[in-house]
Amino acid sequence: MNFTIIEKSLNEINADYELIFVVNKDLNHKFIKDSKEFEFYNFKGEGVLNLPSLRRVYVGIKNTEPESIRQGVAKAFNAIKELNVKSIKMASYVDSCYKMSFEAIAEGFVLSAYKFDRYKSEKKSLNLAEILISTDEFGGKEIKLYEANLGLNHGKIIANATNFAKDIVNEIPEIYTPIKMEEDAKKLTLEYVNLECKIHDENYLKAQNMNAFLAVNRASAHPPRLIHLKYTPKNESLKKIVFVGKGLTYDSGGLSLKPSDYMLTMKSDKSGAAAAMGIIKAACELELPFEIHAVLGATENMIGGDAYKPDDVLITRSGVSVEVRNTDAEGRLVLADCLDWAQSELNPDLLIDMATLTGACVVGLGEYTTGVMGNSYELQSEFKNFTKRSGENLTILEFNDHLRELVKSNIADISNTASSRYGGAITAGIFLDKFIKDEYKDKWLHLDIAGPAYTEKAWGYNQIGATGAGVRANLYYLNKLARNYEKGNK
Ligand code: BES
Ligand code: ZN
Ligand code: ZN
Repeated sequence: MNFTIIEKSLNEINADYELIFVVNKDLNHKFIKDSKEFEFYNFKGEGVLNLPSLRRVYVGIKNTEPESIRQGVAKAFNAIKELNVKSIKMASYVDSCYKMSFEAIAEGFVLSAYKFDRYKSEKKSLNLAEILISTDEFGGKEIKLYEANLGLNHGKIIANATNFAKDIVNEIPEIYTPIKMEEDAKKLTLEYVNLECKIHDENYLKAQNMNAFLAVNRASAHPPRLIHLKYTPKNESLKKIVFVGKGLTYDSGGLSLKPSDYMLTMKSDKSGAAAAMGIIKAACELELPFEIHAVLGATENMIGGDAYKPDDVLITRSGVSVEVRNTDAEGRLVLADCLDWAQSELNPDLLIDMATLTGACVVGLGEYTTGVMGNSYELQSEFKNFTKRSGENLTILEFNDHLRELVKSNIADISNTASSRYGGAITAGIFLDKFIKDEYKDKWLHLDIAGPAYTEKAWGYNQIGATGAGVRANLYYLNKLARNYEKGNK
């Protein structure tokens, strides 16, 4: 898909179709033409009015904020995708930030156009190839071409990285094993010169005493992998940022086997790792001024004669012993060893883990929202603020000492499940906190993406299946962080 900004009025541009936003139901705006049709179709400026005979689609949006633009673009895209539309023209809509407004247009189109059709014998090709954006601006603003083009470029990079993560998550568990994740990580290094990849196998995990990770893997026919990607910026790095991703290529629950209805979709349990790969891919293309690492804990959680068991006690890499009370709480075991490894081996300035960790997070926050946890309220609220315009929803979930009591174990240092059925997202976060060393307490964020990572119904620019949750939020965070350094605020 090509995006071109054209310094001509909307009417002077030739295209197969035209997209017009009706902002806040204002049907009197100069861009709006077809009042007779509005009357006939009873269009009041909300929803979509597609007029194929006139080659125009009207989409009502509440305001010109980036997420409204993305959602509006998605509605237009869905209205015309079955038609043979090769090019579409639209005006510029600038909110408070020039760059972000164009970024949102590109993201809206590229995210909407994603499809996973590898297993369809009949593949529909995408007709829409050209997006033509007139410098005619909704509020009469003069378009700053440099910022607008930068926005389009960043939007494309960010949306492509999100779609890249979706492809990983959507791939079936038969194909997408830890070895496949290794291959994908290595493949990335062929594309980007600033990217290195180190693969650690089960022998390394044994030598490193990563016994919790190994226990989860034990009944799987596929060996585990600790995958380490490192991006080095061209100029001096301003910060070392480490992403740790839960990479459960399949979560059957283990001996605490999931009921069939709950097992379905568990190919998505690698979403944290997929997001980390997407982020690092985009970091290379955006040339972010940070040293960025992705540490992926890749394994399946299966059943078998040598499966780890409820009642087992595992001695983790950090030395902390864990009583296993439920083998389906496996993500925290893999992350415990990976987080410990990331701290001692990489010494990060900022450590962010991403995981489809708990069903409780989905129950508590719904299917659209990521739970943000950690020990530093300052870091959590900065993250929340900087990611506001990414289009992802995030909510801070606070730890407290009452909940800390719930993960105590009678026979080990900690239990992998809480003693109460309430507060499961937070008690899982508290479990991870046990593996965060004192000097990293305030540098760590845990993102539970169990809700938004995978959707069973299409909504907005998301198709059924993987959404790439975590990719956009973190890239908006990193971009904003980079900008603040540029401005000398940090
Ligand atoms: N991968 C699941 C969490 C999950 C559930 C992700 C639904 C996406 C959608 C995780 O490994 C798990 O099974 N967690 C258990 C923990 C419990 C046994 C303490 C859960 O949430 O039920
Ligand atoms: Zn599980
Ligand atoms: Zn899991």
